[in-house]
Amino acid sequence: MIYLDNAATSFPKPRGVIEEQMRCMRQYCGNPGRGAHRLSLAAAEKIYACRELIADTFGASAERVCFTQNTTTALNIAIKGLLCEGDHVLISDMEHNAVYRPVARLASEGRITYDVFPTFPLSPDRSTARICTAIAHLIRPNTKMLICAHASNICSATLPIKEIGALCHKKGILFVVDAAQSAGHLPIDVTKMRIDALCVPGHKGLLGPQGCGFVVWGEDVSADTLIEGGSGFHSLDAQMPEEAPERFEAGTLPTPAIAGLCEGIREVREIGLEAVERHERELNERLFAMLSTLPDLCICAPLHRGSILSFVCDRIPSDRLAAELDRRGFCVRAGFHCSALGHRTLQTPDGGALRVSPGIYTKSTDIDAFFHAMREILT
Ligand code: ALA
Repeated sequence: MIYLDNAATSFPKPRGVIEEQMRCMRQYCGNPGRGAHRLSLAAAEKIYACRELIADTFGASAERVCFTQNTTTALNIAIKGLLCEGDHVLISDMEHNAVYRPVARLASEGRITYDVFPTFPLSPDRSTARICTAIAHLIRPNTKMLICAHASNICSATLPIKEIGALCHKKGILFVVDAAQSAGHLPIDVTKMRIDALCVPGHKGLLGPQGCGFVVWGEDVSADTLIEGGSGFHSLDAQMPEEAPERFEAGTLPTPAIAGLCEGIREVREIGLEAVERHERELNERLFAMLSTLPDLCICAPLHRGSILSFVCDRIPSDRLAAELDRRGFCVRAGFHCSALGHRTLQTPDGGALRVSPGIYTKSTDIDAFFHAMREILT
């Protein structure tokens, strides 16, 4: 089996991640903040250690790190907790449905309005200045928030987060970043990039288990809650506490997943982001060069080199191609990748595209084997 679906979830997980999850369940899986005993304290200490590690990794303070179920929950907390009636929002033309659907729903209820800004993933003239100019043209007096994916989940197009953050800061607009495909792949600093809410999965580039993600709030951002419930303290109050992180963490946290995530982040830091980026770019370049020799294939957004590459085959729909690849032992994802906007922008046909997403543990020989399988299928 060769796993090339790391954009959906990274696999395999590092040994340390698996072992720490098991150690947690065997030795210290009390309920953090909800018990007057040593196991509860040990779980709370592990969670705090992970919070500090995340804070250090993404340039924030520990209390601004709030654990969530996944990136989608983190985005919903940021979008619904920060927007008010009458606000205008900007989103990019490459957004995942985790951004598009909450925004579209608020708009369909008449509570907000929104515009989609172009990111030119197919244009050879794509530049930071062109993207920022396109954004500036769409800003209105009531524009409250800009939300965008740092890296696309269909191709490797990234957005100039630092420059967009500076523009938002200058115009007094909240900046929300979906880092589902960039955390653990590209450097991110919430403070330097002027990000107000960074939404991150634990189980993708950070190599943790499924079941936890987080939002990192920028300084001075105060949001309403999406979910209310027990917070482990101020238990006699009818309202959620004002203080982060507890304000956004109603209910029991997934301690084993957070314990595993801590080890995943340590592993990424040990490998180093530069090495991750270089390895994935080299694999992508190799794959691109090989696939370009095959007939009837069209690569989506051929200008970009990161960890993800998608393509369309003229003769075989992507779901049939993926099923045939699975039969030969290759794990990939087909279809529309939960991104209506992204596929519209990339103009993929009915049936979407086939996505190949190598990871840090993918070898160049895995890419060669994938190419040989594709050649056999197509010729
Ligand atoms: N959002 C994930 C993907 O792109 C699941 O596959």
